[in-house]
Amino acid sequence: MPFKVPFGTITITDLAIKLINESLDTKRISSGKLVRLFEDKFAEIVGVSEAVALSSGTDADILALAVLHDFGAHRGDEVIVPALSFVSTGGAIIHAGFTPVFVDVERSTLNIDPSKIEAAITPKTRAIMPVHLMGKPAEMNTINAIAQKYNLAVVEDAAEAHGALYHGKPAGSLADMGAFSTYIAHIITTGEGGVVTTDNEEYAEVIRSLRSHGRACACKQCSLNTTSGYCAKRFRGEGGEDIRFTFERIGYSCKMNEMEAAIGIGAMEIYHQILNKRHDNLKHVLDRFDQFAPFLATIKEEEWEQIGPHAIPIIIQEDAPFTRVEFSQYLEHHGIETRTLFNSMPTQCQGFNYLGYKLGDFPNAEYIGNNAIHLGCHQDVGVEEMDFVLETITEFIRSKALS
Ligand SMILES: Cc1ncc(COP(=O)(O)O)c(C=O)c1O
Repeated sequence: MPFKVPFGTITITDLAIKLINESLDTKRISSGKLVRLFEDKFAEIVGVSEAVALSSGTDADILALAVLHDFGAHRGDEVIVPALSFVSTGGAIIHAGFTPVFVDVERSTLNIDPSKIEAAITPKTRAIMPVHLMGKPAEMNTINAIAQKYNLAVVEDAAEAHGALYHGKPAGSLADMGAFSTYIAHIITTGEGGVVTTDNEEYAEVIRSLRSHGRACACKQCSLNTTSGYCAKRFRGEGGEDIRFTFERIGYSCKMNEMEAAIGIGAMEIYHQILNKRHDNLKHVLDRFDQFAPFLATIKEEEWEQIGPHAIPIIIQEDAPFTRVEFSQYLEHHGIETRTLFNSMPTQCQGFNYLGYKLGDFPNAEYIGNNAIHLGCHQDVGVEEMDFVLETITEFIRSKALS
């Protein structure tokens, strides 16, 4: 039986299909003019001057940090990051050549606890990477002030924060760089993909080099990929060396392709429609969630922010007479798809064991890792489905209270 409230969806518009067919017809499928158009539109939505499209949100996290090696960072330097996130946030720090230093989150916001950041700073700290988990903006004013005091870069992991606003400014424009995922679970989707946003042209140029093996050429649009023509900039210097095969830094291979960009361009055509529908769905549930206290809790939208409507987080509280497994299985059996709400990366994800953290080091992240789920609030469901979610939860709690 199909889910009545599936976790995610993807909208592929007629424009996207037309552009995909055009790129197939012209045989121009690797990163070219559609990727460039996608980048321009993405930058406009986020309100920044530069957007660099990549293969995934994880690559966006990695490259936004790896760029710092061109600006004085050393391999093995430290990046401060919340303990709770999708696992790739922590992995990206390691793949970028840094060591993650984890800080616990707040239970009420799911985000890094700003009061614990300064204690984690050492002489090796180079950056702070807050995550706007479930689209709720991290406390950026405090984080940016700490970064300024200690001369640190700030990279927002905005993978889940499409459309989020903090004091009127979009997520992804609140720090040195923003890293988005455009995987199918997200609002602007390209199927698989990611984007780094920034107002810093030099960072953008280095990221364009990093996404293509660290090449010395880093034009916004590669003329070789968009025409079959000759690139006048390619052979330079006295010896006329080929900058396309000159590698200036340790790079990656993570470009977006034209068909992915086409899907994203289509999604951006109806971005505000999708965003509004998802936000209405999310608010419908958040505004009615107090009825489930003291058993369940969620996040709150404060007056200075708009939550990017990624999904609906639910934390099962200590007083609840049921377990997460019982709760999520009940929802699943009633047609509501669920996801767990990630883990404490350093203490609940095995790959990080070598860093030596111990269970108990991050009580809030670990509690959420053991006791929280998230549900869909996407554009293919509406108020009727959100009411169904609320009714199903009410019935579940009633059945548990009676048993
Ligand atoms: C907070 C966060 N960061 C990074 C990522 C990685 O994105 P991707 O799956 O596109 O690599 C995700 C995944 O959606 C995420 O939720």
